[in-house]
Amino acid sequence: MSYKQNVAELIGNTDLLRIPSLSVLTGCEILVKCEFQNPGGSIKDRAALQMVKDAIESGELKQGMTIVEGTAGNTGIGLAVVAKALGYKMLTVMPKGQTPEKEKMIALHGSELMLVDPCPFANPNHFYHTARRLAEENNHYWWANQFENTSNAKAHYKHTGPEIWQQTEGKIDALVSVSGTGGTIGGTSCYLKEQKPDVQIWSVDPDGSGIYHYLKTGEYKAQGSSFTEGIGIMRTVANFAQAKIDKGITLPDQDLVTVSRAVRNNDGLVLGSSSALNLAGALFAAAKSGPGKTIVTFACDAGERSYSKLWNPEFLTEKGIRDDLETIEQMLERYRAMDEDVIVNVTRRG
Ligand SMILES: Cc1ncc(COP(=O)(O)O)c(C=O)c1O
Repeated sequence: MSYKQNVAELIGNTDLLRIPSLSVLTGCEILVKCEFQNPGGSIKDRAALQMVKDAIESGELKQGMTIVEGTAGNTGIGLAVVAKALGYKMLTVMPKGQTPEKEKMIALHGSELMLVDPCPFANPNHFYHTARRLAEENNHYWWANQFENTSNAKAHYKHTGPEIWQQTEGKIDALVSVSGTGGTIGGTSCYLKEQKPDVQIWSVDPDGSGIYHYLKTGEYKAQGSSFTEGIGIMRTVANFAQAKIDKGITLPDQDLVTVSRAVRNNDGLVLGSSSALNLAGALFAAAKSGPGKTIVTFACDAGERSYSKLWNPEFLTEKGIRDDLETIEQMLERYRAMDEDVIVNVTRRG
């Protein structure tokens, strides 16, 4: 007999999928790691499992305790899955204004949900500080702390990176990733660079996030805003600090909408918003590197979780975004024609 012992064992070992339309269009192999296959539906299940496993091993997390975490949603869902599978309670602290889809999933997975008003990080009521404070005030709470707890990046160093290496048989030329805590890009880039130092690591950032500016100047500054959720950073956190990044770009929400429609119509994959940004980044990397390369990125979650924003025509109209502004072919041509200066060459900045 061959079976998994519990739901947590379903985490990881996701498929790597070729996106035929974008691969044919660019002449590159555009491959996505199908992280929506995890039982909690997102890449954050991996971080959740590793953080919990390490805390059990170190003795910080004991039976009967409650896991508490501040999150834009997916880490809360991942931790709720792991908590139920391994016998813990879960309390998720989430800012209001994330998609209701994620709020519902957290409750559905049996986590208690505390919604707080969205506010800047410096405000003590920010969801991050609220989760920390709750854990400080209750000794039967354990705070996962996905931003500073490097078990998060370790999950990707131990599993995601090796899976990509094996699935591509080492023929990977570039990895493209968004960052929320930087766990994914941190752990995966470290592993892949150890195997192949010249693999190019691309960071793709939405409007409203400071990573692009940070890579360029060393300072966090952001312009505009984005409807993407769970991604973007405005401070240096321990997981992102591990990332070995070669190139940085920033792309607007309009571009991820265009890619999401092309991939839905041509390939049958309904992407979440961060995944669509990843694929826009992969298209950009293909445009700039020329044909013949193998470019890997992540489908961090699936489209259901972005139903009320990315897939909601009224919402997009309110934001002034069109889903027919340009074709994917026109977008690729625009990327090809773009000045090289829009790319931050991190290694060169040294
Ligand atoms: C949908 C989605 N995509 C991407 C990310 C970013 O992943 P990471 O935290 O590993 O940088 C997150 C969460 O942080 C997320 O929820």
